[in-house]
Order: sequence, then C-alpha cells, then structure tokens
Amino acid sequence: MSFLKEIQRRRTFGIISHPDAGKTTLTEKLLLFGGAIQEAGAVKSNKIKKGATSDFMEIERQRGISVATSVLAFIYKNKKINILDTPGHKDFAEDTFRTLTAVDSVIVVIDVAKGVEEQTEKLVEVCRMRNIPMIVFINKLDREGKDAFDLLDEVEQKLGLTVTPLSFPIGMGYDFKGIYNIWEKKLNLYSGDNKQNISKGIEFDDVNNPELDKQVGKNAATKLREELELVYEVYPDFDRETYLKGNLQPVFFGSALNNFGVKELLDCFIEIAPSPQPKMSDTRLVEPTENTMTGFVFKIHANMDPKHRDRLAFVKIVSGTFKRNVNYLHVRHNKTLKFSSPNAFFAEKKEIVDESFPGDIVGLHDTGNFKIGDTLTEGELLNFKGIPSFSPEHFRYVNNADPLKAKQLTKGLDQLMDEGVAQLFTLEMNGRKIIGTVGALQYEVIQYRLEHEYGAKCTYENLNVHKACWVEPEDFKNAEFADFKRVKQRYLATDKQGQLVFLADSAFTIQMTQDKYPTVKLHYTSEF
Ligand code: G4P
Repeated sequence: MSFLKEIQRRRTFGIISHPDAGKTTLTEKLLLFGGAIQEAGAVKSNKIKKGATSDFMEIERQRGISVATSVLAFIYKNKKINILDTPGHKDFAEDTFRTLTAVDSVIVVIDVAKGVEEQTEKLVEVCRMRNIPMIVFINKLDREGKDAFDLLDEVEQKLGLTVTPLSFPIGMGYDFKGIYNIWEKKLNLYSGDNKQNISKGIEFDDVNNPELDKQVGKNAATKLREELELVYEVYPDFDRETYLKGNLQPVFFGSALNNFGVKELLDCFIEIAPSPQPKMSDTRLVEPTENTMTGFVFKIHANMDPKHRDRLAFVKIVSGTFKRNVNYLHVRHNKTLKFSSPNAFFAEKKEIVDESFPGDIVGLHDTGNFKIGDTLTEGELLNFKGIPSFSPEHFRYVNNADPLKAKQLTKGLDQLMDEGVAQLFTLEMNGRKIIGTVGALQYEVIQYRLEHEYGAKCTYENLNVHKACWVEPEDFKNAEFADFKRVKQRYLATDKQGQLVFLADSAFTIQMTQDKYPTVKLHYTSEF
C-alpha cells in the first residue's frame, strides 16, 4: 500500500465522557466490530472504583490496565482505527488533556439519563479550544432518560456545540423501539435482547411510507415523523467540512451495552472522521504526507516492575514513516537515538513493528531520555506545540523524610514529573519544592511510587494556593514588572521548564494583582 493510502486509511481518536457514561462499554463494542476481541467483557475498565481512593493496589491495578488500554487499534473496513485511552477519573484529567493533543477527532459519550456532566464539560471545552472534530453518542437509550430534544438543547448550551442528529431514537427505556438512521436513511429495530445479531437496518428512504406504522406501531410512527420534521427544520444539515473544522457536531443515539446504534456510529465515523492531521510546530506546520519522520511524546508510562526502571514513551507519528533501528534526533537533547524494539499496539497486545505511519502510536522503551512533549525528527530542529500544563488544583510542600536519600528523592521526583504525574514548582525565595496536582489521589501515588521505585521517602505540608498563574516574561527594566516581582516575591516560583509562576492564594488576589499591575500578564496554562 502506498504511503499516501496508509495515511488516508488511519483514524486516530479518543472517546471522552464523564465516568460511567459508557466509554469502556462502547470501546469494547467497537473492538468487537473490528474482530479485535472475541467477546464482551474483554476490555477491562481502567477506572478507579468508587471509594477506593486510598487503595494502592487499586492504583497499581489501574496503572496496569491503563498500559494495556493506552492504545487500542483494529482494522475495520480496511481502515486502521487507533483509539487512544483517556482516563475519565478527574484526578487524571491532565493525562486526558495531553492525550487529546494526539487525537485527530473524538467521540463524546453522554448518558441519556444524566445528560451533560462535569467531566464532559471540561473535556469538551479543551476539544473546542483546539477545534477537534467531535461526534456525540447518546448512550443507554434502553433506560428511561431525558427527552431527545431537551438533551440536544443541553448539549448545545452546556457544551457550546452546534449539533445535528444523524440518528434519532424511537421511544426510550421500556418503550425503546429503535432508531431511525438519518445518515443512511435506515430503520434499526431494537429487540431488547442484548445477544441479538446486529441488524443491518431496513432501508427507509421515506418515513411517510406506511410500512413504518407496521414496523413500530402507529403512535410511534406518527411521533417519529413529527420529530424528524422538527429535526430537519431546526438543525443544520450535516456538512463534513464544517464538522472537520470543529463547528458542527453530529449526534448518534444508541445503547452500547446492547450493541445497538454502535455499528451505525462506527460506519459513519470511518467515513467522516479525519485522517491524520497536520500539526503546528514552533517553526512551521508539519503535514502528515511529508517524507521525513516527525513525532512527539504525549504520554510516558513507568514500567510496572520496580526492578526495571525503564519506561514506555508513547509517540504519535505526525509525518513520514517511523522505522525500527533508524537514527532519530531527540530535539530537546540534541542527541540521536535509535530504537530496536518499537512497540505497536493492536487490540490489547503490543508487538514489535518495523514501520509505523502518521496517525499511529509507537511505544518506545526509554531509560529516562524522554519527557512529555518531546519531539523526534530526522534532523530538523523543530518542536511540536500544544502540550500545555494547566494550573493544578492542589498544592503541597514536599519534604525529604530520609536525609540519606536526598538524591533518590530528587531523581524520583524528576522522573515522575517527566511522566506527567504532577507538576513541580520551586519557590524563588528559598528553593522549597511544591507539588501541584489535579486530584488529591496523586499525592498518595507519588509517595508510594517514590518509596517503591526510588527508595525515597517524602512528607507533605499543606500550602494555601488557589491557582498557579504563569507569568508572561517581561522586560525586566519594566518598573511595573519589577515592582510586581518585589511585592509578590514570596509567591513566585519556577516550573520545571524554568517559567515564572505566580502562586496566588485566592481568586481575589489574582484580581487585585491584575488591577494593580495591568501590564503583567497572568495565564492559567503554561502555553500562551
Ligand atoms: P465508563 O467507562 O464511561 O466509566 O463506563 P462503563 O462503560 O464502565 O459503563 C458504566 C456502567 O454503565 C456499566 O454498568 C455498564 O454496564 C453500563 N452501561 C454502559 N452502556 C450501557 C447501556 O447502553 N445501557 C445500560 N443500561 N447500561 C449501560 P456497571 O453496573 O457500573 O458495571 P458492570 O458491572 O455492568 O460492568
């Protein structure tokens, strides 16, 4: 197959949802279609069970599963589908944000009864900021839920999307009769039997055909006709270009658990979803069709075996062909590296591959060379953009609890931060170290891993910080900036990249600071 065809047949995407909406179930059904797994229940949920926040075994179990499910790849209708796993648990939200820099599109799963939930809002916002094409899947139609139109309104309002339904439910819960597939003009009847064969759907060009009454009953048929009329009237027609630009989001309805409406989603997805997209670097836009290889690290996973300190760096190929045993430039270190056993992912297995193409993810064994955001090229000095850090929610001082193990502590912290477990800030005034995390759970993870993988012990001390604000570098001769630095020196720190950060203790302080120093620019993410 030609290089161009290899690119065109790839679809690399993520499924995002609030925990429990059905992401794992949907993933599993998609894999079943690809023939990648044989039975339901094969994909383990990577979520942390409720109430298990202090259970280290649970954390380790989750880490183990998340290695296995980091990339799930399969072939469907000659398309190579790469699903990148995005943890739904909010304590791992930053992992998900980073993974979203490596996807070309996403599917958003929403629970029909719960509607738009908190995590969905946050994740969709990130996708919207990046104009990532999104398809919405409204799940659990076999249960009573919200009215379809109310739900579409909610999606538009809470998520700021412009939707167009490409399928529409006929009834719901106890009365759920199936869906009308607007995209393919077909009727899919729901039998309520989750072992049912996947129906191909009945061709149904014209819903005014009296045959519809026979299929779903007179009342349901009349209601569907009225509803579809409203759909055609109210929502814009589907337009692929607008979808690809992130300005229109098609919506499907179904029940992942019952494997209903999933094939329709997948069939539409492979047709409309984008193949690997160009990516911006600090010097230029890199097109996937370019012959020279470029790629970037979006995730690092520590080995589960503490005796082996090696890690797996997940690289998304942006352009060219990644080859085994070929020298590539690690741009940040200005060092060439070659990889004798790059892993590709297929369903839940990984295997060594000779070649990978744009859109693919390769897993590279790493002994500490990589950190998240690193770029690999064939020699060109460019760095891919778009792996920002967001302000953590929690902040604590980290203290060394074993003076003889200071080196181990520094090394452990350094490596865990490279993996993106948390963020480290160093106070300008006294050099004290502060760990910032998205969820409180990470502090336990860090403490546990420092001890078990690096032989270091730490304790934490509370610190009152509301938000970390990155400070835009300024001319140091600027008197206002100099005054800001002098007055706020107790609250200034540097992040791991050496960028200046203002650790503000309240929203009020941020407001006051902005009012007093209008030329000092504060940002909530490290990339501006
Ligand atoms: P997540 O990855 O988004 O967190 O959700 P997951 O797929 O684990 O699904 C959460 C729960 O919702 C699971 O039930 C799952 O079986 C159920 N579910 C998913 N899709 C549907 C659907 O279409 N209809 C109905 N009725 N339920 C659905 P659970 O009881 O929490 O777990 P399990 O014991 O069934 O695994």
